[in-house]
Amino acid sequence: MYKAYIRGVGHYTPEKVLTNYDLEKMVDTSDEWITTRTGIKERRIAADNETSSTMGAEAAKIAVKNAGITAEDIDLIITNTITPDMPFPNTSALIQTIIGAKNAGVFDIEAACTGFIYGLAIANQFIKTGEYKNILLISSETLSRITDWEDRNTCVLFGDGAGAVVVSRSEDDSEIIGTFLGGDGSYKELLYMPGGGSLHPATEESVKNKLHFIKMKGNETFKVAVTKMAESAEIILKKEGISADKIKLVIPHQANMRIMSAVVKRLGLPQEKLYSNIHKYGNTSAATIPIALSEAVQEGKIQKGDMILFVAFGGGFTWGAAVLKF
Ligand code: ACO
Repeated sequence: MYKAYIRGVGHYTPEKVLTNYDLEKMVDTSDEWITTRTGIKERRIAADNETSSTMGAEAAKIAVKNAGITAEDIDLIITNTITPDMPFPNTSALIQTIIGAKNAGVFDIEAACTGFIYGLAIANQFIKTGEYKNILLISSETLSRITDWEDRNTCVLFGDGAGAVVVSRSEDDSEIIGTFLGGDGSYKELLYMPGGGSLHPATEESVKNKLHFIKMKGNETFKVAVTKMAESAEIILKKEGISADKIKLVIPHQANMRIMSAVVKRLGLPQEKLYSNIHKYGNTSAATIPIALSEAVQEGKIQKGDMILFVAFGGGFTWGAAVLKF
């Protein structure tokens, strides 16, 4: 059995910034409400010619470079997204051609905001069995295209961006120690986009009824998110026999500052161990964790050998956690 580790990280966020003050002019909201309820101050919005594949490719190029390999060394590309460029071909295939990873297999997975953890669990297994040596795991979201900009309950929360990691066979102590995945589809209507699939294909009616936008019952989602994220973190630490105080940094899915703080508190850890960049980017769904990881590495907050905890929650509902030695 081989071991897998994160060999390189990268991220890309679009240039255009949409601040809370900009949103005040669009819907009945205030910077004060958004900041105190969520921690978000601004978010990035993709330019007209940017999509999940173009942003994902930018993040991927940086991750591949930082891993010290070339695109041709990539055996498999897995992209996590709820906003693919189109239903098919998959976003990984589109990214493959942009970056020239011509030796890679390509597929996407969809686990909403938990997508990165699900993808990491899959990549980990492929490396452990010895099937592959280098896997490019990308999370890329263009949520601005499925956001109802007239709905103040949701439009203040989301943003666009992409993060990527190269998961490779480990030759030393660095390793993905373990992952935990969970879900419960009975909550499907608390957070979903009803239109565009086989249930409600695109019609004049579906567009008129705004079925192609994110719908969320925020308060009910909030309660389950806090419980399931805290539980997931506790489960993975117990499963792997790691005490919480060994964790150098917790990088949670960035949906709400209050949720992240509650999770870290429940683990008995000081708030300084929480990494957050939600004030800059809002919720970029699956992309929040790899963007945050990439920024934390850039800022020197993570060194080789540090123990890192990822924990996420999203539509489905899905949830999960991963612990690794960087
Ligand atoms: N500006 C001003 N007021 C607002 C806004 C806004 N943008 N949005 C809602 N309000 C109002 C509501 O209408 C409500 O008013 P009322 O009391 O008169 O009815 C009041 O503020 C309180 O609304 P709540 O929804 O109860 O506010 P809450 O404190 O729960 O915060 C939020 C809302 C930020 C959405 C929070 O519930 C949350 O973060 N939920 C979880 C999100 C999450 O984790 N999602 C999962 C991942 S996302 C994914 O998978 C794509």
